Parts: sequence; C-alpha cells; structure tokens
Amino acid sequence: MTFKHFTLNHIKLDQIGSTNSYLHDLNSNTKQVNGTLVSAKNQILGKGQTGNIWHTEKDKNLTFSVVTYPNIKFKHAFYLNIIASLAVNKTLSDLSISSKIKWPNDILVNQKKIGGILIENQINGETINQSIIGIGLNVNQSIFNSGLNATSILNEGKKIEVEEVLNQIYGYLDFYYNLLIESNIKLLRQHYYTHLFWHNQIGTFKDEHSEFKALVIGITDIGLLELRLLDNSTRYCDLKDVQFIY
Ligand code: BTN
Repeated sequence: MTFKHFTLNHIKLDQIGSTNSYLHDLNSNTKQVNGTLVSAKNQILGKGQTGNIWHTEKDKNLTFSVVTYPNIKFKHAFYLNIIASLAVNKTLSDLSISSKIKWPNDILVNQKKIGGILIENQINGETINQSIIGIGLNVNQSIFNSGLNATSILNEGKKIEVEEVLNQIYGYLDFYYNLLIESNIKLLRQHYYTHLFWHNQIGTFKDEHSEFKALVIGITDIGLLELRLLDNSTRYCDLKDVQFIY
C-alpha cells in the first residue's frame, strides 16, 4: 500500500507506558520518517487530554501514535485534531458505525466515548515542525467501568481485528493529512462540521459557575468552540472552560 505523504515505518510494541511518549523520545534521539507509527498491545500509562489517564484493556484495543512534520502555522494547530478525528470517524463509518466528534476530539457513538485523540506538537517560531498524533480506540473490549460511559466497536455490534482498524485509520490519516498540506482547510472544516456533536443545535454546557444552554455555532481557526448564548451573545470556549452535559 502506498501513501501520499506517510512512509509506513511500523514499530510494534508489546507493552509501553505511552506510545506518544515513546515516539517523542525515539524521535529526539533519531529523527524518524514522516508517518512513523508506534502501536502497543498493552499501553499501561496512556496519556489523555487535560492530564487525564487513558485506560485500555490489554490486547483488546487500539493505542498508537504517528509522527508527522506538517510545517503548518501554529495558529492552524487545530486542523491536526480535525484530520485525526475525521480519520477515526471515516473508519467507523466504513463499519456502518455512525460516530460524532465531541469538540475538540472525543469520538462518540450513541453518546458514549469510543475513542480519543491526543496531539503533542513541537513548535519552531510560528510553525509546527513536529506533531505526534496519538489515537486510542476501543475495539474489542466489552466491559467498561460504568463511570466511564464508554463503548467499543464490539459493543456496537461489529467484530474486527485491531490491526485491521489500525490500517484503515492510518490510510485515512494520510488522506486527510494530504488535504491539510494542500491547504484544503475549508473542506476539512466542512467535513468536521458534518460530524460535530450538537452542531447547529442547542446543547447544555457547564462552566465553573453553572449549567447553561447554548447553540453550537462552530470552531474558530484556533480551535475555540463558538457558542451562541440564549441572550444572543457569543462565547468562545477553551477546553478547560466548558463541559458538555448530555
Ligand atoms: C483523550 O480522550 O483524553 C485522549 C486519549 C488519547 C489516548 C491515546 S492512546 C495512544 C496515544 N498514547 C497516549 O499516551 N495517548 C494517546
């Protein structure tokens, strides 16, 4: 299989703390080719958004990271989240599983979390010269801690090998990465909005003070969530500012 930008240099690990950290450290020693992929059968210290831990059952799920050198402006960093979310979303849709992207990049199926994305960028001046895209997707795990409100491909009724899902996502990641490199930003945004949870709908949110209702307008170029409040004012939210209540 050939790719537009990626070279499939696949490093398969049995056990690791975090594939993102492993790839970061490896790349600090020896620069890896664009598209180098690290996957682990058992990730024991997976990193999640906002300092959370990403829990995953050994041998059942997908945990991997890909290093890329996009050389895009830092202000366009959010488009890396968009391409990763779309790659997962398209892979699920090929399996007839309809998923939504909860901003910034939680992947939901029937309002349960099936996957998450953690992107760690290295900046040089105003440019992102290295981006490690880490993706966790629940594939064949069937039992989850009830507090997690999680699901998996298996629990959505489909049986598939972890490796097969990985190949699919990797191919789509290369595809969407190409749109980004070609500055096809408008198209990426359109795709993202098609799958954005609560887009053009009124949802319930919570900030540090209270719960409130707002219409989801979209995402700004720097990745802030744009909400229209019921008094018609606009609010731009950072990841730490708001929680979705659903
Ligand atoms: C989240 O939803 O909080 C993001 C979770 C990201 C988890 C993936 S699993 C592979 C990669 N390595 C990590 O340590 N984290 C990401």
